[in-house]
Amino acid sequence: MPTSRKPIISGNWKMNLNHFEAIQTVQKLHYSIPKEVFDKVDVSVHPPFTDIRSVQTVIEADDLDLLLGAQHCHWDDKGAFTGEISPAFLAKLDVKLVVCGHSERRDLFGETDEMVNKKVHAIFKHGMTPIMCCGESLDEREAGETEAKVLTQVAAGLAKLQADQVASMVIAYEPIWAIGTGKTATADDAQAVCKAIRGAVGAQFGSDVAAAVRIQYGGSVKAGTTVELMAQPDVDGALVGGASLDPDEFSRIVQFAAD
Ligand code: PGA
Repeated sequence: MPTSRKPIISGNWKMNLNHFEAIQTVQKLHYSIPKEVFDKVDVSVHPPFTDIRSVQTVIEADDLDLLLGAQHCHWDDKGAFTGEISPAFLAKLDVKLVVCGHSERRDLFGETDEMVNKKVHAIFKHGMTPIMCCGESLDEREAGETEAKVLTQVAAGLAKLQADQVASMVIAYEPIWAIGTGKTATADDAQAVCKAIRGAVGAQFGSDVAAAVRIQYGGSVKAGTTVELMAQPDVDGALVGGASLDPDEFSRIVQFAAD
């Protein structure tokens, strides 16, 4: 990737680690990443909601270089939405990045492109950065529909955004068949789709925006696959699930991304 885009590695813990475990994990993670690495790569952790306050306190008290993230939010500030999470409340907790449109949210909890777009707007409204996910299923890939699916999701997710917002956000390409399965897209496949996403962003928002937007790959990323992925010109980082639960492995991923 060009040096103008700072790599970003994000750990999506999903529904794992209670708040005690979360505190230990962030402390161990921070300790195992050499300080100077944080100048070269942004690192975010996305704990479950019940952990966020505890993790925020540790990050603040120990002055850790980790960016606090969330995995999801609602688009309204408040109201009668039992069980939902207000983006305004996340911002109050100093959350910097919010994942939205993860395929697990889309497939298991019925999130549509339209809902994802509303969330992206809400995340920006509260001064946070969206990590907007997109990706194709195995059937779609085998039918040769990868680009069509991904670019439709991206266009819908970016609807009615300002160019400077798009330039500042993160898009995560996560082929659904590679998430939690141990199967990774080849670095060439990841590059091809990330390049197509950047091209679509450029066509809609201009080449400066395309050059600035950061695109992550996600799906069974491990330390062993990071170097090749990060060598791709359009891959600017990784959204890491399973491997982010192990501070040693996640730290290696971060350090490889910084090299
Ligand atoms: P995985 O998850 O690394 O466990 O495949 C990635 C993700 O869902 O963000």
